[in-house]
Parts: sequence; structure tokens; C-alpha cells
Amino acid sequence: MRLPAVLLLGASLFFAACTGGSGGGAEAPKEVVIGQYGSLTGSSATFGISTKNGIELATDEINAKGGISGMPLRMVVEDDQGKPEEAATAVNKLISRDRPVALLGEVSSSRSLAAAPIAQKNGVPMISPSSTSVKVTQQGDYIFRVCFIDPFQGTVAAKFAYNSKGIRKIAILKDVKNDYSVGLAQFFNETFVKLGGTVTGDEAYSEGDNDFKAQLTKLIAGQPEALFVPGYYTEVGLIAKQARQLGFTGPLIGGDGWDSDELVKIGEDAIIGSYFTNHYSVDDPTPAVQNFIRNYEAKYQSKPDGLAALGYDAAVILYAALNDVAKDPAMAAALGDRSSDPAKEEAKKAARSRLRQALAQTKNFPGVTGVITIDADRNANKAAVVVEVTKAGPKFVESVPADGGPAGSPNDGAPPPTNQAPVAGEAAGAVPAPGGVAPGGPPPGPPPGGPPPGAPGVAPPPAK
Ligand code: PHE
Repeated sequence: MRLPAVLLLGASLFFAACTGGSGGGAEAPKEVVIGQYGSLTGSSATFGISTKNGIELATDEINAKGGISGMPLRMVVEDDQGKPEEAATAVNKLISRDRPVALLGEVSSSRSLAAAPIAQKNGVPMISPSSTSVKVTQQGDYIFRVCFIDPFQGTVAAKFAYNSKGIRKIAILKDVKNDYSVGLAQFFNETFVKLGGTVTGDEAYSEGDNDFKAQLTKLIAGQPEALFVPGYYTEVGLIAKQARQLGFTGPLIGGDGWDSDELVKIGEDAIIGSYFTNHYSVDDPTPAVQNFIRNYEAKYQSKPDGLAALGYDAAVILYAALNDVAKDPAMAAALGDRSSDPAKEEAKKAARSRLRQALAQTKNFPGVTGVITIDADRNANKAAVVVEVTKAGPKFVESVPADGGPAGSPNDGAPPPTNQAPVAGEAAGAVPAPGGVAPGGPPPGPPPGGPPPGAPGVAPPPAK
């Protein structure tokens, strides 16, 4: 059979692309491919976009310094529209189409939980910058995160409400479709009750709802002093408005899922004066943090939120581990190999397994969001901040050190946030030495294990 010339040409181009050859059997240019999946659209779109921006900033910085052993990093992003089932599809697509050496994502715990088993099964290390549900890293030994987890966050929020704000009666409104929201509500509840507080009501909604009046009416009838609303910003903004319409005047308290510029755009005045727990504060005077903010603003003309900072940290930690693995030339060759040649698969798998080990060994890494040490469960023990929602953006209220134990005590209102350690070296993006350990050893500042053991437990509630 004779094939038309154009088809033959198409076929040979296709062959060249598949084999990584450029015609005469030469290797395709080496590059290290990273996959990101996240919500670039949908009701939590700012999560994915900010994370992508943070990752891109880190990627550009590393590429400007020569990439990974001279190979450029290339980031491939898939939009999951904020849906768990799409997150699974996105990760399947990234792995089969782009063959990334590692994955960054997701922000939302429910989406990370949907995709993590796929990364685990394929032996592709995955780092979630910001999923806080305990269950995420339990999906397997290839699954990491660079943020604190919800038992800590829930404790921080409960202690803030009880100790710092003097609240004794609170009602909870959670998103039952959201693993993070359900878990955080539970941990908050446990600590608040242990402290001596009363939970006057506990109601639920589902992501995408826009009328919360029935639940709010019930909750307000129980006469709580505050509402704990561990959801994402779109619903939280609407809940705040409807709570005010129903006459509720107390503060709302929430978690990191509030972290978006959109929160105040949706909630307007109704959300001003409320509080949430978060991973970092733009008010932190630490040079590394301010440096990051300056670089981010220069690139994106906006202030980085916590997601951007965590995306940046996740990427920088990944690139440090990649640099470490790529010191071995055989490993570097496997990491940069873009071919789909089955004969190379074993070597690539071995390189990803080495990458997994290097990530697991990350210690005292001076990130923008705090000092990061990956523990035996592949989680990071880090400090949290509490911020107040103001018209000008989130305002720092207090910092709570990661204490590893029954965590988190407000730091008696001492003014500067203390969750960040100074960075040795110029930019926070400085590539640390092998093993993800910062150059010059552990940075000064809080010890990796958390605050001194004698940190005060329950402080008397200040006058409101
Ligand atoms: N912690 C949230 C979750 O697990 C995600 C999130 C992190 C949202 C940080 C905003 C900021 O679902």
C-alpha cells in the first residue's frame, strides 16, 4: 500500500516525538517535568491560581540559576475545576501524557484525597502545598505535604476563641462535602469542649449551596457568641452576609479555607472583624518573607496569599530534593529523560524512588511559611497564625508555635509573628544543600521540634 507523502511525514514526526529522537537518533533535549493540578476555575479558583503563581515564581528562580543539573524545569498545569473527580482525571492525564517526575497539588484535601492514590500507584511523588486533612498523607509513602494538619489547626482556632477572645458558647456550620471542613470542625469541637466551652449547635451545608438561612436560624437560636465556619471562602462570604441579615452580630471564626481576596469581595462588611487561622502573614517582617512578597508583587502585581507562599515552598522543597538526586549522573539522566521508551522505565522509577527518599529527609528547611521538617508521617510541623479580616486584607493577630503535643497556645499577644525563621542566604528560593537541608545547617530561630516545652497552656481570657 502506498501512503501519501504527507501522511508519511506525519508518521515520522510522530515517531520522533514518541522516541524522543530528533531524526537521526539524537536524544531530545533534557528537561525535568513537574505536574501541577489545581482549581484554576470554579468556586475556589483563587486557590489553584495563587498556588500556580507561587510554583511558577520558584520555577523561574531555579531555572535562572541553571535548573536541575543544567536541565530546565518545565511545569505542566491541569485545571481540575475544583472537583475531586476532575482531580483524579487531571492526575491520570498528567502521568500518562507528560510523565512528570513529581506532582504538586492539590490545595483542597478532598481533591488531594481523590488523586493521591493514583500518584502512589504510579510511584510519582506528590506534594500537597496546603491540604490539611490528616488523611491526605495516609494515602501512601509517596504523598507529602508542607503544611500543618487539622488537629493542630483546630486546636489553634479553639484556643484562640476560648482564651484570646473569651468566647464560651459557639455554634459550628460545616461543609459536609469537604473532608477538610468536617475534620477541622471535629478537632475544633473537641478542643473547645475540653477547654470548658459549649458548642450550642452543629449544622451542615454542601459546597455550592447559596442559601444558609435555615441552618443559621437554628444556630442563632442557641445564642452562641461566635460561629465557627470551617469552609471555603465563597460559601463563607455568603454565610457571613446571611448571618448579619438574621441579626447575628458576633464574630465568625474559620480556618485557612478563608484565605482569598475574594472573601471580602463576597462577604463585604459582614465578614470584617472576623478571624481565621492561616499559614503565614504578609505582616511578617522576616527578610525572607518580605523578599518573597517583593518578588511576587513584581511578577504578579498582587500580594501573595498563603496559598502562593505554600505553593512556593512546596516547589522549592521539591527542587532542592531534585538537585540532591541529580548529583548522581545516572539519576540526573533518568530525571531528564523525556522518552516513553519502556526500557528506560526502571531507571526512571528508581530516580523517582530516590526523589521520594530525598523529600522524606527534608529537615529544617527555611521556607516562607516557616521552618519545614518532613516528619515520619510525611507531614510538616509548623506554626500557625491567626489573622483578622480587615478591609485592607488579613491582619496579623497572633502566632502559635507548632508544639507537637496537644498543640498551640496563643503567644500572649506578643506582637511580631514568630513562625518564620530567618533564611541563611539571599532569597528564600536559595537552593539548599543535599537532603533538603538548608545551607549552613539549621537556621536560627525556633527549634524544629517546636516551642520550648514550658509554653503557657491556657492563658486567662483577656477582657473583650
Ligand atoms: N487546608 C485546606 C484543605 O485542606 C485548603 C486550603 C489551604 C485553603 C490553605 C486555603 C488556604 O482543604
